[in-house]
Amino acid sequence: MKQREGSDEAKRRAGSSAAEAITDGDVVGLGTGSTAAWAIRALGRRVDAGLDVRGIPTSYQSRQLAREASIPIVTLEDALPDVAIDGADQVAGTDLIKGGGAAHAREKIVDTAADRFLVVVDETKLADALEAPVPIELLPDAVPVVSEAVRSLGGSPELRIATRKDGPVVTDNGNVVLDSAFGSIDDPAALADELSTIPGVVEHGLFVDLADEIHVGTESGVDVLR
Ligand code: A5P
Repeated sequence: MKQREGSDEAKRRAGSSAAEAITDGDVVGLGTGSTAAWAIRALGRRVDAGLDVRGIPTSYQSRQLAREASIPIVTLEDALPDVAIDGADQVAGTDLIKGGGAAHAREKIVDTAADRFLVVVDETKLADALEAPVPIELLPDAVPVVSEAVRSLGGSPELRIATRKDGPVVTDNGNVVLDSAFGSIDDPAALADELSTIPGVVEHGLFVDLADEIHVGTESGVDVLR
């Protein structure tokens, strides 16, 4: 569930900045979404110019983009990522909400496995506290019980409905997604732990204290927050 949209130019600047941080020999986690897509395209241009990297996609979308950009693709069985580049829906300090594209389960696996995690966003994503709805991927059969458990945590879960398909969004993993507002999240780590323990939840979009660098594209340049 996308919240706000920055300009393509700001997203391109953020993506290009992170792609510049990749060095020869790196295995790179390739995030999902419109900002990570700019990073993949920029990395592809560096591959064309001779950079030796391999990419681990986090979704069908990022796999296709990597192929188009001629980035050699590997899996987690082949190598662990040295670095991951990924977008976010909201950023507060080093905490993130992800999953606007329903790819957060694979993203969290790859981003967490990486030695360094570079987040790419435009400045509309920055906030003092996380308050956007939290995407929760879950097994389809578990919707009623997970919804009830999320409500008991103070959330307002809504099943994410597809726009060019009847019925719910189905993730790359064959699951569905609840988007749940919790208001301003005072303790993201505590909420993350609570959500992770609900039976039927595959993964939620709270990425707590994972970001190493945040490349923020603005209308005039890039700020790198560490
Ligand atoms: C994919 O599920 C998400 O985690 C994206 O990384 C996030 O929604 C950011 O996407 P945009 O860069 O398109 O805003």
